Amino acid sequence: MKRVFFLVSTILLAVLFVLSYWEDSTREWTAYQRRFLGSLNRDERRGLSGGIKQLVMSDLRRVDRCTTCHIAIDKPALALAEQPFMAHPGSYLLWHPPEKFGCTVCHGGQGLATEVKAAHGEVKHWEQPLLRGELVQASCYKCHGDVKAIESHVPRLAQGIRLYKQLGCAGCHAVRGFGQAVSIDLSDIGDKPWQLLDFTFVEGHPTLSRWLYEHFKEPRKVTPGFRKEELPAGEEEIYPSFMPNYGLTDEEALALTIYMLGLTEENLPAKYVLPPPPPEPAPAYASSVEAGRAVFHTYGCNGCHGIDGRGGRKNWNAQLGQEVPALAYVKTIYDRESLKELIRAGRQPVPRLDPTRPRPPLYMPSWKDRLNDEELEHLVDYLFSLYEQVPQGGG
Ligand code: HEC
Ligand code: HEC
Ligand code: HEC
Ligand code: HEC
Ligand code: HEC
Repeated sequence: MKRVFFLVSTILLAVLFVLSYWEDSTREWTAYQRRFLGSLNRDERRGLSGGIKQLVMSDLRRVDRCTTCHIAIDKPALALAEQPFMAHPGSYLLWHPPEKFGCTVCHGGQGLATEVKAAHGEVKHWEQPLLRGELVQASCYKCHGDVKAIESHVPRLAQGIRLYKQLGCAGCHAVRGFGQAVSIDLSDIGDKPWQLLDFTFVEGHPTLSRWLYEHFKEPRKVTPGFRKEELPAGEEEIYPSFMPNYGLTDEEALALTIYMLGLTEENLPAKYVLPPPPPEPAPAYASSVEAGRAVFHTYGCNGCHGIDGRGGRKNWNAQLGQEVPALAYVKTIYDRESLKELIRAGRQPVPRLDPTRPRPPLYMPSWKDRLNDEELEHLVDYLFSLYEQVPQGGG
C-alpha cells in the first residue's frame, strides 16, 4: 500500500515538473539571478550556480522553488539588503532546515512557480496566498499545538487564541468539539476556499484572510442579509449577521484572523507535529462566584449575553426587545432550581415579535451534557451575584 502510494506521488510530482517547465516561458527568475550573481566578486561566486533551485520534500508532498529567487535566504554573508536577496530573519531556518521543511509549509504560496506573482500565490486560481507579515504566525499552529512553548515568536497568534476565549466565541461556534453549534463550526476554517465566501462587500484581491479580517471588523457590513423585497418571490427575509460587532482594534482583528487561518485539518506526517500542550492545572478561585464567572466565560455565555451578562446583542424579531436579554435580574425571576433547569434545557424557539417574519436567529442553547453539577452551582452563584451589582433603590 505504502509502495503504491509512493509510486503514485512520484509520478504525480514528475507530471507536475513537466507541466511547470512548460509554463516557464517568461523566466522572470533569470533576471534576479543575473543581478545577484553579478553583485558578487569571484571568491563569493565560487560554488554558486544559476538555474532553477528546488527543495523537494516528498513526505510533505511539496516542491518549493522559492530559493531560485530568494537565493541568499540561507547565506547571511552574501545577502543583499533588498528582496528577493535578503537572508532569512531570525533562527527559523536553523530550527526548520530548508531541505526538510521547505518554505511553503510556513509561508503559503505556490512552491513550483517561478514568477513572482504566481510563486507568491497572489493570483486568482491559487488557494494559499503568501502569508505576509504577521500572518505567517498562523502556520506555526499546524505543528506547534502548544503555543505557550513558542509564544515569544508568535505573539499575535497567542493573542488571537486568548481573545477567542475571552470574547465568548464558543457560545455560538465550535472548534474541535468544544463550543455550541448555533453557528458555523470553525475547526477547519483555515482551509475554506475563498470561492465559498461572499466578497460583494470586501474590496481588493479576494483572499480568506482579507474576508476574515473585514468580517471581524464589521460582520454586518460583510454579511448584511436581505429584505424580502430584495429576494426572489417566495423566499424568506434573511437577517443581517448576528455575529456580534466587538469593536475590535486592527491588531485584535488581525490576531483573530491569524488564529482562524491556523485552524486547518492539513494532514502532516507525525514527525513534523509536536505534542499538544500538557493539561493546565485547575485554577484556584477565591469564591464560588469567581469560579462561576470563569464558567460563564469558558462556555461563551458572554458571546450572546454580553460582558458580565449586560445584554445588548441584537436578536432580530425576538419578543424581548429584539435583543438577547441581560442577566442582571435573573435572581428576581428564578429560584436556584428553576434557573438550573432553564440552563440545562435551554429555550428554543424564541418567541417572535412579528409572527409573519422569520424566527429570531439566536436561541438559548441547551447545556445539559456540557456543564457538570459543580460548574452549574458556581454559575448560579455568579448569575445571582449580578443582581447585587445593579444600582438598588432610588426613586
Ligand atoms: C521569481 C522570483 C521569486 C520567487 C520564485 C519567489 N519570490 Fe518571494 N519575493 C520576490 C520578490 C521580487 C520579492 C519582493 C517583492 C514582493 O514583496 O512581492 C519577494 C518577497 C518575498 C517575501 C517578503 C514579503 C513581504 O511582505 O515583505 C516573502 C516572505 C517571500 N517572497 C516568500 C517567498 C516564498 C515562500 C516563495 C516560494 C513559494 C517565493 N517567495 C518565491 C521574488 C520571488
Ligand atoms: C518555520 C517557518 C518558516 C519557514 C520554514 C520559512 N520561513 Fe520565512 N519567515 C518565517 C517567519 C516567522 C518570518 C518573519 C520573521 C520576522 O518578521 O521576524 C519569515 C520571514 C521571511 C522573509 C522576510 C520577510 C520580510 O521582509 O520580513 C522572507 C523573504 C522569507 N521568510 C522567505 C522564506 C523562504 C524563501 C523560505 C524557504 C527557504 C522560508 N522563508 C522558510 C517563517 C518561516
Ligand atoms: C511543518 C511543521 C512546523 C511548522 C509549520 C513550524 N514548526 Fe517550528 N518546529 C517543528 C519541528 C518538528 C521542530 C523541531 C522540534 C524538535 O527539535 O524537537 C520545530 C522547532 C521549532 C523551534 C525550536 C524549538 C526548541 O525548543 O528549540 C521554534 C522556536 C519553532 N519551531 C517555532 C516555530 C514558529 C514560530 C513557526 C511559525 C512561523 C513554526 N515553528 C512552524 C515543526 C514546525
Ligand atoms: C452570537 C453568536 C456568535 C458569536 C458569539 C460569534 N459568532 Fe462568529 N458567526 C456567527 C454567525 C451567525 C456567523 C455567520 C454569518 C456571518 O457570516 O456573519 C458567523 C460567522 C463567523 C465566521 C465565518 C465562518 C464562515 O465559514 O463563513 C467566523 C470565522 C467567525 N464567525 C468567527 C467568530 C469568532 C472568532 C468569534 C469570537 C470573537 C465569533 N465568531 C463569535 C455568530 C457568532
Ligand atoms: C447562542 C446564544 C446564547 C448563548 C451562548 C447563551 N444564551 Fe442564554 N439566552 C439566549 C437567548 C436568545 C435567551 C432568551 C430566550 C427567550 O427569549 O426566552 C436566553 C435566555 C437566558 C436566560 C433567561 C433570561 C431571562 O430573562 O429569562 C438565562 C438565565 C440564560 N440565558 C443564561 C445563559 C447562560 C448561563 C449561558 C452559558 C452557559 C447562556 N445563557 C448562553 C441566548 C444564549
